[in-house]
Amino acid sequence: MDRSDYDALDAGAVAAALGDLADAFSLVLLAECDSTNSRLLAQLPPDDGRVHVLAADVQTSGRGRRGRVWQSWPGASLTFSALWRFAPGSPVPAGLSLVAGLAVARALEELGVDGVQLKWPNDVLVHGRKLAGILVELTPGRGRTPAAVVGIGVNLSLPPDAQVEYATGVTDLAECLGRAPGASQLLGLVLVQLHRLFEVYAAAGFSALRGAWQQRNAFADLPVSIIGEAEALSGTCAGVDEDGALLLHTPEGLRRVLSGEVSLRLA
Ligand code: BTN
Repeated sequence: MDRSDYDALDAGAVAAALGDLADAFSLVLLAECDSTNSRLLAQLPPDDGRVHVLAADVQTSGRGRRGRVWQSWPGASLTFSALWRFAPGSPVPAGLSLVAGLAVARALEELGVDGVQLKWPNDVLVHGRKLAGILVELTPGRGRTPAAVVGIGVNLSLPPDAQVEYATGVTDLAECLGRAPGASQLLGLVLVQLHRLFEVYAAAGFSALRGAWQQRNAFADLPVSIIGEAEALSGTCAGVDEDGALLLHTPEGLRRVLSGEVSLRLA
């Protein structure tokens, strides 16, 4: 398929959506790459004060959380990664991936998407079905400024015969809005939100954004199970704490969950 056969990423359109923040970013837009996360991690760009972003129309080896595959078709999804560097000496904050989910949620709401929800730690759902996924990976290396690669995939318009298996089911923006927005516009809107929210986060921590996250919590007060931890856990979702850990009311009391996969427990 040729790039002119679908709405390919365009640097001018991304810059227009970034507005005043255009100079804060360095953008590389590719027709194809294996995985934007893998590529950024393998070739760390220079630390020149800008946020480096790598986006691709199509990924041939897109990766998801917990070893999953992020499938890709031309024009089907926005796929990009941004390298975020933190002040030298500061620890990479733990709530980062929740903040990334909130940034995506806000960009979608700006576009007029109704029913946006967050599924801990960072899936973005619309009326219960998955629209976007986030994979945050920390850059290795002693003595370097700590940094994180924040990889984001948003479904724009999945092929009718696409088989995407996910517990909540999936949706795309074509379904949510009646038409898919341009990938470039969406990229710009998400980057603006990431920039805003990471600044708040760096200055004031996750507690400053906790309320906004909880307002969109897909499983608030619902019975859930957690798998992928050392022991399986069941309880009622009680939101997140000041660090972004999931809180669960269980028969043994309130438990903090730091990792794992949450699913709704049906009666
Ligand atoms: C998940 O839902 O499990 C996370 C999906 C993350 C997919 C994005 S697409 C851009 C970036 N590059 C990758 O290989 N993965 C992330």
